[in-house]
Amino acid sequence: MIVSTREMLLKAQRERYAVPAFNFHNLETIQVIVETAAELRSAVILAGTPGTFDYAGRDYAQAIIETAAKKYDIPIALHLDHHEVVEDIKKSIDLGTKSVMIDASHHQFDENIAVVKEVVAYAHRYDVTVEAELGRLGGQEDDLVVDEKDSMYTNPDSAKEYVDRTGIDSLAVAIGTAHGLYKSEPKLDFERLAEIKKVVSIPLVLHGASGVAFDDVRKTIELGICKVNIATELKMPFSGELRKYLEEHRDANDPRKYMEPAKKAMKLVVAEKIKMCMSEHRY
Ligand code: 13P
Ligand code: ZN
Ligand code: NA
Repeated sequence: MIVSTREMLLKAQRERYAVPAFNFHNLETIQVIVETAAELRSAVILAGTPGTFDYAGRDYAQAIIETAAKKYDIPIALHLDHHEVVEDIKKSIDLGTKSVMIDASHHQFDENIAVVKEVVAYAHRYDVTVEAELGRLGGQEDDLVVDEKDSMYTNPDSAKEYVDRTGIDSLAVAIGTAHGLYKSEPKLDFERLAEIKKVVSIPLVLHGASGVAFDDVRKTIELGICKVNIATELKMPFSGELRKYLEEHRDANDPRKYMEPAKKAMKLVVAEKIKMCMSEHRY
């Protein structure tokens, strides 16, 4: 059964590890993610952006992941990643999605809260968990002047008010990570994360984990991160190996063959990231 992220994130919070949230794109990436998580006895979150659902179809994605969740006896969640359209979220909930992110982080504080509250009211009726973001993910600390940094990064006092007023189940924080890779190593604001953790009791979420050093991710988990989002670092080995195979086998035309090396390469990274999150052997 597809589960919400409620129990899995609260268990991670109690036991001080993080559940990895991997972005999927098709059947093959779902297979690799759940198979590896099952082998390592880790809970796992399959995250789909609106773009992924446009590509794969909400009903197809839902059905494939439901099948995976029946096949393996680990907690598997399908999570809506970076959804901005409230109607899309409601549609997915009606299809059986149990975990959603409403990303209203581009709005001003009060408008952000208003949009998130609408989603929370709908979601909680169906026991669906809601993640929301305060602050904005983006460039590196180095690229920002202090004023910009303060307005972009999650402010701890506002975070407490935001969580209290919205009633969300988990909070995505902006502490210096960005989506995709980095030109140079990102400098994370650990102090800020510690301050947020002091005043916010719900599980905290780290976006943009691709390209962040292993030790830095570990440190954020020590400081209260319970869910780590990883997309780019899975896309790279998959597409890299696929390209290499097709270049080396110019006559290859069988997806059942040419997808295999790509899946294998991605699998290694999934396993590595599960270990980075310390979520193996928890179930
Ligand atoms: P990365 O692509 O940096 O791993 O970010 C993933 C993410 O935050 C998905 O929401
Ligand atoms: Zn993200
Ligand atoms: Na990143």
